[in-house]
Amino acid sequence: MEISLTVNGEPVTRDVEARLLLVHLLRDELGLTGTHWGCDTSNCGTCVVLYDDEPVKSCTVLAAMASGHDVRTVESLEWEGELDPVQQGFMECHGLQCGFCTSGMLMTARALLDRDPDPSEATIREAISGQICRCTGYASIVRSVQWAAAHPEGKRS
Ligand code: FES
Ligand code: FES
Repeated sequence: MEISLTVNGEPVTRDVEARLLLVHLLRDELGLTGTHWGCDTSNCGTCVVLYDDEPVKSCTVLAAMASGHDVRTVESLEWEGELDPVQQGFMECHGLQCGFCTSGMLMTARALLDRDPDPSEATIREAISGQICRCTGYASIVRSVQWAAAHPEGKRS
């Protein structure tokens, strides 16, 4: 079946199998491997992308369901050579170790700050509660999001 959607601002049309998952469309068809694929059972959250500006686990969405919608992946965060403040925050506050969970965490953080620029620690923890990090213990991830909230223009603010 033919699907048409927007991925990172670019129109995409593909002929796909009806069973193809969005995570596989992104990674295998479009080469956007920044979105990771972990559990495939909607548990780990490493596959989170923005779907019409809402964070979703892309292993739970069929590519066909995304037709007509807007998808953003971690590759869209950097803009004209400058990292998004959430990426800068993860660098400043050591919000990652192995990095496997990081792209999903970044997209959830971006969505959170877009709707709540000054979230409480509890709100940040709730926002990332559907995502698993086996390395950091989460404290540095929370600090990273807080750094981004305090620096909405990144290091320039
Ligand atoms: S791969 Fe999607 S939640 Fe784990
Ligand atoms: S940094 Fe390794 S799983 Fe989160």
